[in-house]
Amino acid sequence: MGLFDYKRKAKPPVDGRVEGVAKVTGSGKYAAEYEVPNVCHAVLVSSTVAAGTIKSIDVSAAQQADGVLDIVTHLHKPLVPGLADEEKIKQSRFGLPVFHTDKIFFRGQPVAMVIAKTLEDANYAASLVEVTYNEAPAKVDFDEARKSVELKSAGRERGSEAAWNNAAAIIEQEYNIATEVHNPMEMHATIAHWTAADKLVLYDKNQGVMNVQRTFAGLFNIPAANITVHSEFVGGGFGSGLRVWSNALAAIMAALQVKRPVKLMLTRPQMFSLTGYRPASWQKIKLGADANGVFQGLVHQAKNGSSVYENFSEGITRISRITYKFDNLKTEQIAVPLNLGTPTWMRGPGECTGAFALESAIDELSYKLNIDPVELRLKNFALRNDPENGKPYSTNFVDEGIRKGAEMIGWSARKSQPGAITEGDWKIGYGVGIGMWSAGRGTASAGITMNKDGVVTIKTAMTDIGTGTGTAMHNMVHTFTGISKNKIKVAVGHSDLPTAGSQGGSTGLSSISGAVSAVCDALKLKLAGYAADIKPAYKDAKVADVLLSDKGIAFQSANNQFIAWPALWEKHQLTELDVEASSGPGQERQQYSFCVSAAHFAKVGVNIKTGKVKIEKAVCVADGGRIVNEKPAANQVSGAIVGGIGMALMEEIHADKKLGNLVGNDLAGYHFAVNADAPILEVAFVNKPDPNINPSGAKGLGEVGIIGSAAAIANAIYNATGKRLRDLPITPDKIL
Ligand code: MOS
Repeated sequence: MGLFDYKRKAKPPVDGRVEGVAKVTGSGKYAAEYEVPNVCHAVLVSSTVAAGTIKSIDVSAAQQADGVLDIVTHLHKPLVPGLADEEKIKQSRFGLPVFHTDKIFFRGQPVAMVIAKTLEDANYAASLVEVTYNEAPAKVDFDEARKSVELKSAGRERGSEAAWNNAAAIIEQEYNIATEVHNPMEMHATIAHWTAADKLVLYDKNQGVMNVQRTFAGLFNIPAANITVHSEFVGGGFGSGLRVWSNALAAIMAALQVKRPVKLMLTRPQMFSLTGYRPASWQKIKLGADANGVFQGLVHQAKNGSSVYENFSEGITRISRITYKFDNLKTEQIAVPLNLGTPTWMRGPGECTGAFALESAIDELSYKLNIDPVELRLKNFALRNDPENGKPYSTNFVDEGIRKGAEMIGWSARKSQPGAITEGDWKIGYGVGIGMWSAGRGTASAGITMNKDGVVTIKTAMTDIGTGTGTAMHNMVHTFTGISKNKIKVAVGHSDLPTAGSQGGSTGLSSISGAVSAVCDALKLKLAGYAADIKPAYKDAKVADVLLSDKGIAFQSANNQFIAWPALWEKHQLTELDVEASSGPGQERQQYSFCVSAAHFAKVGVNIKTGKVKIEKAVCVADGGRIVNEKPAANQVSGAIVGGIGMALMEEIHADKKLGNLVGNDLAGYHFAVNADAPILEVAFVNKPDPNINPSGAKGLGEVGIIGSAAAIANAIYNATGKRLRDLPITPDKIL
């Protein structure tokens, strides 16, 4: 195994991103930017009612418009075999059976698609399509709809509620979070090109090319290998690209219909209804502790919005089962069907929502017991064993994180009395919130191509949506082989590259690092094999014996065995060589539980005249195992905190209760945090390798950067003002 030498290299590198220049200069191509000859354009026509059926569609005027090639509706379409009837639709689990039903599930659902020579022609013709509906009553009000939906158990109950009903301190409160939308910079887009009757090339925005390939292989009943997916550059995802949505299928259907390549890019408003969101949620927490602050029991209940055609449950209560020791624990949750598009995973899915309620309740308890919120958490962390399955945590440094975070924010300046610090019109407060996430690992493959100039390309099908996975791979190849960084290239996000799962759930680096390590070993052994024909000492060389450099191959100990690359390549008449390797989780998962954690702190100022909240400083100390490259790792966490600030203070979208349309569904109406809202973010890492998770010791960081962050801010607002706010976002009207 190519283990990092973490004694010698205590400080991780701080390289910029390998794809950074291409992304910011425009030379990197996003899905919609590929130039495909003869391409035409598709535009979606959306339903203007939220429930019912389509009564009629009149496309006659649209068909006469300039440049129109065809108009797809549920009555005029290429049949997708996997959606041929109700039963197949259900089995496919694709979600929205676009153009394969006359039913309307939500407002904004595509009901027709105009395909034209230019985007302008398609847009104009789309405005001429006339649709009438048999409208039915729609449910879009989560607060109303949730009342008639019963909770169900969300995991094994521990102990009993009766055992702690007389606990010294009990907090019982409800929490509400508004719907939030991912809003990656790059819109979801697809260029679909049927190069033969059963061969498809896609340029697509997503977080997993193999998932796209598998989905359409199933729907069109063709081998996955016949579908090529390009997603080399992805402009953010936050979870919206973990599913294949109706827009990609629509593009493929359009290309089939007009027998030409078709480009379909969603508009920003369409992104709000067609590519998922973090659903609205209601939670209730009942938390009890003894007079010393030792937790006695917890009941955590949660409901989240979903759609009427799918059942998406967020797993909101999961975080309550893994973070603290509770001998008595009950968790319940349920999804509430609504006439909206189906929600999906959004950064820290489930845990992020759950942590807001749990960490707010713990804060409230700390004031009731008059125990410092940091101390109260330290008393109750489940540090050694995962309370869910009893297995030891391989590593869990959440205690170290919270101590270090308290120092960084200046916690000692906090006053336990709310409202005690005033600076002019501003009340100052401090808050803390904890994030936890299971550290997963999937099986992944990586390949290396080496050319005769000694340039190596490390390759995987995994996408890099902006997280820095490609950069980390670059760093690892350098560390594992000794080859200079300027001789290492990275290729990601293409289905022809070695197989790997989607980038999501904080598993990307954890999954790929094993494969990178294994393929570096394979490269060394293959080169040693060639070297043995020149110098017999290499004959039985082990990985640890072999050292590569820009000049050639050497033995770690016996340097007289050096062979320069030209000599090696000439001897074997080689111009290029390829190696590939796979790696995945093994026995260690039987023995250990794996977790990632973050301690979030916020110092806020609350303006007593306007109710404005200013984040003075936010701190996060994350335990993500080994940090492979500090710069993208810290970027990733600070970006997530910006998401936490948005969640706490700004982000919300609501459907009009009468019409079912989303109000403010563009970047003028939907507010998220920008630079001015996030002045000072300080990120630090525990940076201790997990020795069991994979050869790199890195556990993954994507989710915990946001989980617990909104609670830290809400708790700081309470400390500043004495006002406990349990509904997000905390807009100025709620503060005043
Ligand atoms: Mo994320 S919700 O794992 O893209």
